[in-house]
Amino acid sequence: MPTAAPRRRGWRAGTARAAAAAPLLLLLAPLIAAPRPAAAAGEVDAIVIGAGVAGLKAALDLATGGNSVTVLEARPRTGGRIHTLNDPRWGAVELGAQWIHGQPNVLTDLCKERGWKRLPSDLVGGVGYEATSQTTAKEITDAQWTAWEKLFSDLEERIEVLQEESSDGKNLAWGVKKFIREEDLTDSQIKGVDFMVNQEWVQEYAASTKRLSLNWFDNDAEDLGGDSIIERGYSAVPDDLLSQARAKGVKVLLNQTVAEVDYSEGDSVVVTTTDGQAYTASFAVVTLPLGVLQAKKRDGGVAFSPRLPSTKRRAIKNLKMGVLNKVILGFPDSAKWTQYNWVDRIPLPTDAGRWREFFSLRNITGKPLIVAFNAGDAALYGDDPSDETLVADAVSALRAMFGADNIPDPDYSLVTRWHQDPYTFGSYSVVAAGAKGTERKDLAAPVGKLLYFAGEAADVDYPSTVQGAWLSGAAAAKAAVLDHP
Ligand SMILES: Cc1cc2nc3c(=O)[nH]c(=O)nc-3n(C[C@H](O)[C@H](O)[C@H](O)COP(=O)(O)OP(=O)(O)OC[C@H]3O[C@@H](n4cnc5c(N)ncnc54)[C@H](O)[C@@H]3O)c2cc1C
Ligand SMILES: *[C@@H]1O[C@H](CO)[C@@H](O)[C@H](O)[C@H]1NC(C)=O
Ligand SMILES: *[C@@H]1O[C@H](CO)[C@@H](O)[C@H](O)[C@H]1NC(C)=O
Repeated sequence: MPTAAPRRRGWRAGTARAAAAAPLLLLLAPLIAAPRPAAAAGEVDAIVIGAGVAGLKAALDLATGGNSVTVLEARPRTGGRIHTLNDPRWGAVELGAQWIHGQPNVLTDLCKERGWKRLPSDLVGGVGYEATSQTTAKEITDAQWTAWEKLFSDLEERIEVLQEESSDGKNLAWGVKKFIREEDLTDSQIKGVDFMVNQEWVQEYAASTKRLSLNWFDNDAEDLGGDSIIERGYSAVPDDLLSQARAKGVKVLLNQTVAEVDYSEGDSVVVTTTDGQAYTASFAVVTLPLGVLQAKKRDGGVAFSPRLPSTKRRAIKNLKMGVLNKVILGFPDSAKWTQYNWVDRIPLPTDAGRWREFFSLRNITGKPLIVAFNAGDAALYGDDPSDETLVADAVSALRAMFGADNIPDPDYSLVTRWHQDPYTFGSYSVVAAGAKGTERKDLAAPVGKLLYFAGEAADVDYPSTVQGAWLSGAAAAKAAVLDHP
């Protein structure tokens, strides 16, 4: 994405008036030697980069604090990693975030205030299967579940101790292997540990245990349970923030992909887009997803000038983007498929790690939708399968478990590829091996009184979630308002 077009500092980008006025001012400049006008620090007080939940919450709070605000968003829509398709037949179909995790929670408060119905959706009503061939599977027995859950709780205890004892360089896979060796587990026990590790950690953190930091992968606030789904769709949250922000005069500009953030002037920030439009402000709130912060300029990354301080760069490097992708399947209403909410599956060696977890919305929203989750390495789709292949493979896995008669051909399907999305390059952040544990705090720290940072990756207590994005946006706005009275 070349950004060769010259920057027009201080002028409203792209307006003919600004372009025409520039030479005139240049001519007059030596004659009048004008004192810096009051607005010299920028045409708006604040630029917010990104219109996901973090950016919209920051923009709203900045405007409430008396600032003029422009939000620049690359996509043709707001909401970022919340993306609901409201379908007349299937209801709210979530391509990104689905659950409000735990309560109390800023989001449950918002739902109560607005009178939005929440549907309870805890991790109950599940069943497990082990694939035995392309067309057959056997149910995991109660005895296996009991034994494997016990093994996993022993593993959790062991990992806690190892976290105390080990240096920061180790990954979670090392700890799991060590446990397996120490306990001298049988092949069938190892299978159980692998099954539990996958459903409890790999699916949740959306990263392989090799990628996750042994010490810090689970360093966030405890989930108190009580998960729920917003019946009208998760996009209600960013939509609500957007309309509140607009009512306070915030301008939200879509299709504006930021390429460069120049804060070298010291008292203003110039943000330039890929098509050469420049916007100036007294300060900026950066809510770019971690994957975008990590991307090289030629791959669609953003150049900071001067480059960001070393603590910030290390934080950006030590965190990684987890990948969680969905294959969403809609079935004819008459289908007698699964009465379960969750299905966990031990895949075949030929499954490339896929089809380990399915979630059914039928008992929750009443819509016969099944969501297959692929997480971590399995979600990278290294062998580049087509959407049709992924859908067919997911259906085969379901048929092997529930019988071909109970799983008809889906008449609706959607496949996400968040890892290839140039405006996030992944699903949500994780703490990778080698991290020091201070990365999220370091990512959130402002640079002078010019750049403030927010986004799920920058929240210490609730990272990787919508609530974390919201809280980080609120915190960045609060700091900026204090710095710029
Ligand atoms: C598949 C999936 C499932 C998830 N499930 C859940 C869940 O169940 N519960 C939960 O709480 N969380 C979940 N999450 C995580 C949650 O969606 C995110 O944590 C949250 O939405 C992030 O908000 P944000 O504002 O930090 O980032 P984003 O929503 O990504 O907002 C950043 C914005 O910046 C924009 N942008 C990017 N690059 C540029 C650029 N160069 N110039 C201008 N703008 C740019 C993006 O387009 C985006 O709109 C899930 C995420 C995914 C992908
Ligand atoms: C943004 O671009 C899309 C095409 O990518 C276009 O359909 C849409 O109208 C544009 N929106 C704005 C606000 O410019
Ligand atoms: C889902 O609903 C069906 C039909 O009402 C019921 O038989 C089944 O037990 C429910 N499943 C769960 C997990 O609640």
